[in-house]
Amino acid sequence: MRWRPWSPNTGRSHRSASPARRIPRRRGNTFPDLDIRTSRLLLRELRETDVPEVVAGASDEVTQRWLPLPWPYTEHHATMFVTRLAPAMRVSGHGTVRALEYDGNFAGVIDLKRTDWTARVTEIGYWTMPGFRGLGLTTEAASAITRWALADLGFERVELRVPPENRASNRVAVKSGFALEGILRNAGQIRAGRVDLAVYSRIRADLTE
Ligand SMILES: CC(C)(COP(=O)(O)OP(=O)(O)OC[C@H]1O[C@@H](n2cnc3c(N)ncnc32)[C@H](O)[C@@H]1OP(=O)(O)O)[C@@H](O)C(=O)NCCC(=O)NCCS
Repeated sequence: MRWRPWSPNTGRSHRSASPARRIPRRRGNTFPDLDIRTSRLLLRELRETDVPEVVAGASDEVTQRWLPLPWPYTEHHATMFVTRLAPAMRVSGHGTVRALEYDGNFAGVIDLKRTDWTARVTEIGYWTMPGFRGLGLTTEAASAITRWALADLGFERVELRVPPENRASNRVAVKSGFALEGILRNAGQIRAGRVDLAVYSRIRADLTE
């Protein structure tokens, strides 16, 4: 069968099934549905009122360049993401999705995904609204959610995978205290095609540094 990229914002391949079919339910571990506060941000659950901003942010050309999202990214995609995929990710134990709220504004999305509760490893991902970039908000959100996973939830390792050419995201990784481990060759899919991925990690021992 031909490989199709999975979309983190719809839970669908560019063709396919409902989120419920694509994320197997698991018993036991799930992320708590808690708000996380940082000095400037509230990391909260997505709401249906976020849909217009999700459409705008996911349609942005830089977001589209680096994330394998549907194009065009429609209100239907955003509604599915907010009302079905994001809740299903948490209920299934697969991850958690949080909105970045800054001064009452929707400023982006951050998530933990591909979670292995046995190995206690999870992976972080994010995008930020164009008008809120360059303010250090993604770094602040990534630092906070990573610390929450390692210090409060007992995870041992949080991974971050970034195409080496995505300079802003590599900066976020470094500024958030992630250590570069190496390059996974031909490991990712973006709109332009296959890419290498720089793999970063932050581990529990890093918290004491
Ligand atoms: C990556 C992204 C989330 C960063 O968001 P942000 O809120 O601007 O991040 P921060 O403000 O915390 O930090 C951005 C850093 O990247 C730097 N940067 C931004 N654009 C850059 C570019 N084109 N080249 C080099 N550095 C760049 C900024 O200067 C800043 O670094 P500094 O503090 O040392 O000056 C945002 O650009 C985005 O949404 N991109 C599209 C989606 C995406 O790439 N997601 C990650 C997939 S791996």
